[in-house]
Amino acid sequence: MIEDQKQMPFDVNKIRDDFPLLKRSVYGKDLIYLDNGATSQKPQVVIDAINEYYSENNSNIHRGVHYLSQLATTQYEDARKIIQTYINASLPEEVLFTKGTSDSINLVAFSFGETLSKGDEVIISAMEHHSNIVPWQMMCERKECTLRVVPIDENGDLILEEFEKLLNNRTKLVAVSHISNSLGTINPVKTIIDKAHAVGAKVLIDGAQSIQHMKVDMLELDCDFYAFSGHKVFGPTGVGILYGKKDILDNMPPYQGGGDMIAKVTFEKTTYNELPHKFEAGTPNISGGIGLGAAIKYFSELDIEAIHSHEQELAGYTESKLMEFPGMKIIGTAKEKTSVVSFVVDGIHPFDLGTLLDKQGIAVRTGHHCTQPIMDFFEIPGTIRASFAFYNTMEEIDIFIAAVERSLNMLR
Ligand code: ALA
Repeated sequence: MIEDQKQMPFDVNKIRDDFPLLKRSVYGKDLIYLDNGATSQKPQVVIDAINEYYSENNSNIHRGVHYLSQLATTQYEDARKIIQTYINASLPEEVLFTKGTSDSINLVAFSFGETLSKGDEVIISAMEHHSNIVPWQMMCERKECTLRVVPIDENGDLILEEFEKLLNNRTKLVAVSHISNSLGTINPVKTIIDKAHAVGAKVLIDGAQSIQHMKVDMLELDCDFYAFSGHKVFGPTGVGILYGKKDILDNMPPYQGGGDMIAKVTFEKTTYNELPHKFEAGTPNISGGIGLGAAIKYFSELDIEAIHSHEQELAGYTESKLMEFPGMKIIGTAKEKTSVVSFVVDGIHPFDLGTLLDKQGIAVRTGHHCTQPIMDFFEIPGTIRASFAFYNTMEEIDIFIAAVERSLNMLR
């Protein structure tokens, strides 16, 4: 069991050895990878788990009596249990494999959405990723529900008093990000969950940017749904998780029809399989699930408190050095924030600065980061975003800052 395993002391240089890609160069420069908000790099154990599945164990799951099918099924279901244990969900069947956070949210928007009626209300926030806006707009249009939006302030904090004003007995769901991918704001999700529950609403937490930075505990949070992507937590792309409370999932209709999600099919009537299979139609991303299990196992053996402090140090140092440049503005200065530094510089287009940084071997993201309403709120076209993982170092930040200086000198 994961909880019995001893945690390793946090040694960033030793950890970097686990990630083969961090050793590569681009344009003849050592890669400095500061685009972890978009996707994380993969430790060798994850790459090995995927290779091993395809080279030795490849077979379909939940279908065959033969040896390989049973082995692959065991590995896939073991991965589910590793994830269940790590997020402290009560039951493995509360952990659904999906394609990623967007897919998880779409599943809830469609399927939980089917249980809503005309006039019901859904609350999101002004700092959501498009993936936690558009599915709710589609659902509200389909079901004639009303979408409400909690505003943010100039720092990028949610205005909680406004949230409280929006809550009422028509509120059926609150869907908010745990950490903003553009601003780095850590939202007070426990408070949000408790307040939403007080009016009988369910709560979905978009954990795409949080599970790789902090411990998340489903029983402690008491959220109804929690969504995250494998590729942002050091696992493969194309696989993610939707945690949902069993009693709620049991009362939701299936999202998609197909193999594995049925109990009995006749032309007259189909009955559905039990959880989690009811929501997992078709052959899933088997190697992805096994790879995600390996990623969570790897991550769970690290010291999460040490990771959090290291990342806070990286972000704080980056912000303080950036603020020494004239015309610099950090976008997102919330009281509680982590791992993301978004910024703009007077007279410089983010794309131009990002392109020059790239040529110096530094990977950052530029643009609206799939959060156009945030950019509209700050009246900017986009930002340059440096987003950190535990394998980044202070030395990398120094090189990044020197590259920003060199680039600004070229652009001014
Ligand atoms: N949602 C990812 C990001 O923030 C892709 O970059």
